[in-house]
Amino acid sequence: MKDFLIAPSILSADFARLGEDVAKVLEAGADVVHFDVMDNHYVPNLTIGPMVCQALRDYGITAPIDVHLMVKPVDSLVPQFAKAGASIITFHPEASEHIDRTLGLIREHGCQAGLVFNPATPLSYLDYVMDKVDVILLMSVNPGFGGQSFIAGTLDKLREARRRINESGRNIRLEIDGGVKPDNIRDIAEAGADMFVAGSAIFGKPDYKAVIDDMRRELAA
Ligand code: DX5
Ligand code: ZN
Repeated sequence: MKDFLIAPSILSADFARLGEDVAKVLEAGADVVHFDVMDNHYVPNLTIGPMVCQALRDYGITAPIDVHLMVKPVDSLVPQFAKAGASIITFHPEASEHIDRTLGLIREHGCQAGLVFNPATPLSYLDYVMDKVDVILLMSVNPGFGGQSFIAGTLDKLREARRRINESGRNIRLEIDGGVKPDNIRDIAEAGADMFVAGSAIFGKPDYKAVIDDMRRELAA
């Protein structure tokens, strides 16, 4: 397993030429495509669904697609995204009536499953499902928009999540999403994250490779 994964959030990509932009960011050295799904109900914004995921696969994108569901309800979208080529599906526990069932449903459909924690959502949602998650995603902004600032308190929460993962002895990814940039990625990694979502920091710059190289340099330092 690769130590650190960089997952550009395509929320900040050019939607008018999405396939091309995603191919470009992968060529620039990204590992995973982070795919933000918003429903204008669970979060106050509306983005993309399974058809767009399928379109990226049809375009020839073979990298893992990490589908971050900011939707309520969750379950009906799971089979659709699995069929459309999702590799990882994460959801917010507050948005599912039956968290254990939703995690099982994701795995049954052949995807890796994960829970997402908003800044004020307690990690105790993990208490009885550590054996059912492949990914833990901590939000370091309130979900709904790109380009917000990293909430500093998330560093302590990352340490707590890392402790839980180590104690479990399981191979669980610890993903961070929101306000990640070259100048804070090292502190975030030191707090325990090993998968880094970055939207505006990467797509907001003309040279994706330069930003990703900067991030890797910081991670290696
Ligand atoms: C926010 C999304 C993020 C967002 C991150 O709700 O889940 O993935 O795109 O964007 P930046 O990196 O710009 O904070
Ligand atoms: Zn996201």
